[in-house]
Amino acid sequence: MQDFESESFAMGVDHSQKVKATPIATAVARVTVQSMNFRPFSLPRAFIQKRLHSLTGLWLVAFLILHLLANSQAALLVGEDGSGFVKAANDIRTLPYLPVIEIALLAVPFAIHIYWGICALMVSEPNSLRSDGAKPSLPEYPHNHAYTWQRVTSWILLLLIAAHVIQMRFMENPVEAQLGAEKFYMVRVNRDPGLESVAARLGVKLLDSNQIEKQEKELPQTPKSDNPVDAQLYSQQRERIEALKSRPLEKNQVMAVANNFGTAELLMVRETFKLPSMLLLYTVLVLSACFHGFNGLWTFLITWGVTMSQKSQNRMYRISLFFMGLLAFMGLSAIWGTYWISLRV
Ligand code: HEM
Repeated sequence: MQDFESESFAMGVDHSQKVKATPIATAVARVTVQSMNFRPFSLPRAFIQKRLHSLTGLWLVAFLILHLLANSQAALLVGEDGSGFVKAANDIRTLPYLPVIEIALLAVPFAIHIYWGICALMVSEPNSLRSDGAKPSLPEYPHNHAYTWQRVTSWILLLLIAAHVIQMRFMENPVEAQLGAEKFYMVRVNRDPGLESVAARLGVKLLDSNQIEKQEKELPQTPKSDNPVDAQLYSQQRERIEALKSRPLEKNQVMAVANNFGTAELLMVRETFKLPSMLLLYTVLVLSACFHGFNGLWTFLITWGVTMSQKSQNRMYRISLFFMGLLAFMGLSAIWGTYWISLRV
């Protein structure tokens, strides 16, 4: 009965009618219930879930392409000091309704993909590994290995994307302050031999804890007058000092103060990719995302019946591999090039 129920569930059949669970009764009930209750325009729930998972996967591939193309500009256009990256980051920052866009177009599709992805992971049975005969084992087929890696990279992505968002979007995100008509964006960075010259080229001020303390001491205790303009300017000056102090500085650290968000973000990325551990983790993240995304693009086209023949699937696999390689190159260049090639000195 369990089988019948789950199958009828998948077929979109209402199983409010229960019948005695003998094999004949089950068979008769299957025909009767399906012919009486099958709703011609209702799609099976499992079918809809799979398609939703698949569509959100395609959407994430589009996002991955845009994300890595923007990031690559921090490094690939050597000599331009990441100006393409700065412009892209500033353009995104000035989009109207940005928080709504971030939630509706990124967080929600991600959540849907991850939820149904985890459901798929729980029931998946990779068959590319050697087995003692208790489980199917067909390691001679390359796509069986791709199936396994699609699942392995799912877990890696789950972990590393969460860490990436927590680090860059929340922990190290530039702190913002306004003074009159000007806005300032601040990030905490470690001193290094090239920092002063990079900061000078980018028009960024570097303030250590002594300089911040001095600025705080120089600030009067009260506004110049009761005039609302003076009062507002004074409160902004205070808030700017608070923003500068919001990240505790060690001896070799400074706050880099930029007059636009993109430049502060570029310095934060440069800072991240100074560290060998980060280079390694982000390399794993980018390679996993590119494999998962483009192997996924290939299975997406099969899921939706676009590539039906063996020939079209083989051709599409070569195309997917080409774009997987190209995008991995873009992503890796941002990781290895932002500090070590483009902005070290
Ligand atoms: C960079 C982020 C990601 C991108 C670009 C992406 C993209 C894709 C694409 C295009 C597919 C193929 C859909 C199909 O065959 O119709 C897919 C499948 C899959 N994704 Fe993702 N995904 C991402 C992150 C994740 C994460 C974090 C998980 C973790 C749960 C995950 C789990 C899965 C699973 C399990 C499948 C295989 C489902 C199946 O074959 O039935 N994905 N992904």
